Amino acid sequence: MTGQELYERAVAVSERAYAPYSRYNVGAVVQARDGTLIEGVNVENAAYPLGVCAERTALSSAIVRGYRPGDLEAIGITASPCGGCRQWLHEFKLERVTFLNAAGEIVTYSPRELLPDTWDLPE
Ligand code: THU
Repeated sequence: MTGQELYERAVAVSERAYAPYSRYNVGAVVQARDGTLIEGVNVENAAYPLGVCAERTALSSAIVRGYRPGDLEAIGITASPCGGCRQWLHEFKLERVTFLNAAGEIVTYSPRELLPDTWDLPE
């Protein structure tokens, strides 16, 4: 699936976001290397800092299904990923990250481009 197609899927998924506080619905769709699509939305909470981003619910769902770092190829997101989500995208070694940037363009980057000099746990 192209980045554009993943992005369009993410837009459809974003309708199921639970974002009553910010009213900012975000959708994310992960494509696994076996072709499976895994959806995520942002899930907010009345205790605001406890909310979870769409990318993280999608990636968590992928992990529950048994996928591991390297098994996930691409993700489409309706928003530019926040700094914390960039670290998650790095952890799970996605190849392509497509999203709608602040200029209204659909763009694709690698996690490395989104988070240069990324931190890793020393071995
Ligand atoms: N949000 C995401 O879901 N992903 C991001 O990468 C940026 C921010 C959500 C979190 C919160 O529910 C809402 O957008 C407003 O910050």
